[in-house]
Amino acid sequence: MEIPLKFAWASLIYLVIGSTMGVIMLLTSESIKPSHAHVLLIGFVAMMIFGVGYHLLPVFAGTDLHSLRLAEIQFWLQNIGLVGLAFTMPYRYGSTNYMTGTVIFGIISLLGIYLFAYNIARSLITPKEIKKT
Ligand code: HEM
Ligand code: HEM
Repeated sequence: MEIPLKFAWASLIYLVIGSTMGVIMLLTSESIKPSHAHVLLIGFVAMMIFGVGYHLLPVFAGTDLHSLRLAEIQFWLQNIGLVGLAFTMPYRYGSTNYMTGTVIFGIISLLGIYLFAYNIARSLITPKEIKKT
C-alpha cells in the first residue's frame, strides 16, 4: 500500500478508537485523558497530516519525496510509539512505574516526527533537476 494511504488508514482507526475512549471517559471514571488526547492528536490529526503531507507537499514544491524508505520507517516508529504512549500515559494517575515506558515510547514517537520533518524538508529544498533518487 502507498505510504499516504497507510497513514490515512491508521488515522481513521485512531479516530474511531480515540473517540470511543472519549465516551468511555464520560461513562466511567477511567483516567485516560492523556491517552485519549494523544491517540486523537498524534493518531488521528497528525497521521492524517503526515499522509496527506507526504503526497501533497512535494507536489506543491515541484519535487519528488526525498525518501520513501524513511517515510516507511517513520510509519512504523510513529505507530509503535503511539500505541506504547497510549498504554503507558496513565503514569500520572497510576503507578510511576509507567513513566519509563512513557519516556521510551515518547522518544520513539519523537524520532518518527523528526524523520517526517527531515524527509519533507529535504524534499522541499532539493530542486528536482539535481535530486538524487
Ligand atoms: C466522541 C468524541 C469525544 C468525546 C466523547 C471526548 C471526550 C473527552 C473527555 C470526557 C475529555 C476529558 C475532559 C476533562 O475531564 O478534562 C476529553 C479531553 C480531551 N479531548 Fe476529547 N472527546 C472526543 C473527541 C475528541 C477529538 C476528536 C479530539 C481531537 C482531535 C479530542 C481531544 C481531546 C483533548 C486534547 C483532550 C484533553 C484536553 C485537556 O488537556 O484538558 N477529543 N475528551
Ligand atoms: C513525541 C510526541 C509526544 C510526547 C512524548 C508527548 C507527551 C506528553 C506528555 C507526557 C503530556 C502530559 C500528560 C499528562 O498530563 O499526564 C502531554 C500532554 C499533552 N500533549 Fe503531548 N506529547 C507528544 C506529542 C503531542 C502532539 C503532537 C500533540 C498535539 C498535536 C500533543 C498534545 C498534547 C496535549 C493537548 C496535552 C495535554 C493533554 C491532557 O491534558 O491530558 N502532544 N504530552
